[in-house]
Amino acid sequence: MQKPTKRILSGVQPSGDLHLGNYLGAIKNFVSLQKEYECFFCVVDLHAITVWQDPKVLADKTREVTAAFIASGIDPKKNNIFVQSQVPQHAQLAWIFNCVARMGWLNRMTQFKDKAGKNSENVSVGLFSYPTLMAADILIYLATHVPVGDDQKQHLELTRDIAQKFNNDFKTDLFPIPEPLIFGQATRVMSLRDGSKKMSKSDPSDYSRIMLTDTADDITLKIKKAKTDPLPLPEYVKDLNSRPEAQNLVSIYASLQNNSLEDIINKYKGKEFSLFKKDLIDLAVSKLEPITLEMNKLKSDFAFIDTVLKEGKDKAITVAEPVLAKTKEIIGFLG
Ligand code: AMP
Ligand code: TRP
Repeated sequence: MQKPTKRILSGVQPSGDLHLGNYLGAIKNFVSLQKEYECFFCVVDLHAITVWQDPKVLADKTREVTAAFIASGIDPKKNNIFVQSQVPQHAQLAWIFNCVARMGWLNRMTQFKDKAGKNSENVSVGLFSYPTLMAADILIYLATHVPVGDDQKQHLELTRDIAQKFNNDFKTDLFPIPEPLIFGQATRVMSLRDGSKKMSKSDPSDYSRIMLTDTADDITLKIKKAKTDPLPLPEYVKDLNSRPEAQNLVSIYASLQNNSLEDIINKYKGKEFSLFKKDLIDLAVSKLEPITLEMNKLKSDFAFIDTVLKEGKDKAITVAEPVLAKTKEIIGFLG
């Protein structure tokens, strides 16, 4: 089997509308990586159902994430865009990885603790074993690199541990040890209402996040209302460390404009937030509005989206099937 040296896999859940954190932390980076890597971008619906999903909206959300990938600039002809549940090899490898990963490893996952909260006796078993499926998503393609937001770092370390343990246990070098690609100025976009909380789909406040479905008016209102502190913008980037809301807005600006934090601080130091916010609104609308319009157009074109997903699925299976077959042979399963 030929081993790739520059292959990417990443996944996004169709569990609600996408927000600015998904875009700046992940999808925007996918767009820049497609030139250099062979890419597999997966809409991870099996992960989405670890918490309740309304069957009437799941299919729409699956198409919407696909549309968002394409509207953001991922070329569906050059990259493989597909749906996780349509490639059964992911779930098959995930079972094997459930038998490789240790309870102690999964018990340390902070995302599970955050999501389960006080309710840990009553959440799905899938929510707990979620990271072994993520490891399977990556390793079934022998992916070497995984672009994600900062919140997925721990899951990637677990993926590396699983690959290593499988290779050691079975004296093989089948699985690569994949590298996380966490880069850009906004690897962790925070809530617009509270700079200590991550921007997330599950925050009860709509004003905490900018959605990729938002209109220019929505974006304007949300940035106007975004929490700041009473001080003007600081002289130095390091002064942002103790000002989480200011740091978040400056990082969002830098990321949208592909500039460094220094560039933004040099431009706005000593200026009032009202002025900075006005410019941030113009920038956010100019970057996001074209994506939103294109996404809305594409997502209702079922014929186009479903053709992209069918081609992606066929290509994905061609790559995944021999890796699963090899894994089964190594374990000693009958062929
Ligand atoms: P999810 O919507 O949870 O499937 O996340 C899809 C991608 O978006 C993953 O790579 C996450 O790491 C990334 N992501 C989610 N929330 C944020 C955030 N607030 N800041 C940066 N990246 C994020
Ligand atoms: N767990 C990731 C998230 O919630 C989504 C995901 C699933 C993923 N499988 C993946 C990301 C494989 C990267 C690679 O954001």
